[in-house]
Amino acid sequence: MPTLDQLNALDRAAFTAALGHLFEHSPWVADETWPRRPFRDAAHLHAELCATMRSAAARQLALIRAHPDLAGRLAQQNSLTAESIREQASAGLNRLTDDELAEFQRLNTAYLARFGFPFIICARLNAKSAILAAMTARLPQTPEHEFTIALGEIEKIAHLRLNDLLEKAL
Ligand code: GUN
Repeated sequence: MPTLDQLNALDRAAFTAALGHLFEHSPWVADETWPRRPFRDAAHLHAELCATMRSAAARQLALIRAHPDLAGRLAQQNSLTAESIREQASAGLNRLTDDELAEFQRLNTAYLARFGFPFIICARLNAKSAILAAMTARLPQTPEHEFTIALGEIEKIAHLRLNDLLEKAL
């Protein structure tokens, strides 16, 4: 596990390899943040990664779409990234009853049909019941609102993934 000093010392390719997973299937966020090193602390690094994401308006939709559905097809096929497996399991989504699974699939389908991108919530900060409640509550929202919420949740996901990376090194 790298320390922040070690991350600051990496060349661009190694930095992207170390941090590329913080934003799901989107190593460009780490890659384009590298020129702004050195980072004072984890909060500074996270803020700069988020600034990269926020300034890349044209790629934000693809970033949101790179996330798997919660309890969705990829999870059923064991095709999630290592981080996503852990995140979905932490919310209990790997232990659903048939009825719960059907409810997730109904809401995932309705959400995707309405907005054109998957429902994003930081699964590690929400239990199964809170996720289902949020899906129901957010379904009537506007696309602009949901797009903004999704980016905020992606920032939380990246924050926890960064903490995991640095934790053992602090
Ligand atoms: N899709 C919706 N929420 C999440 C999450 O917390 N992690 C991942 N990987 N995908 C998601």
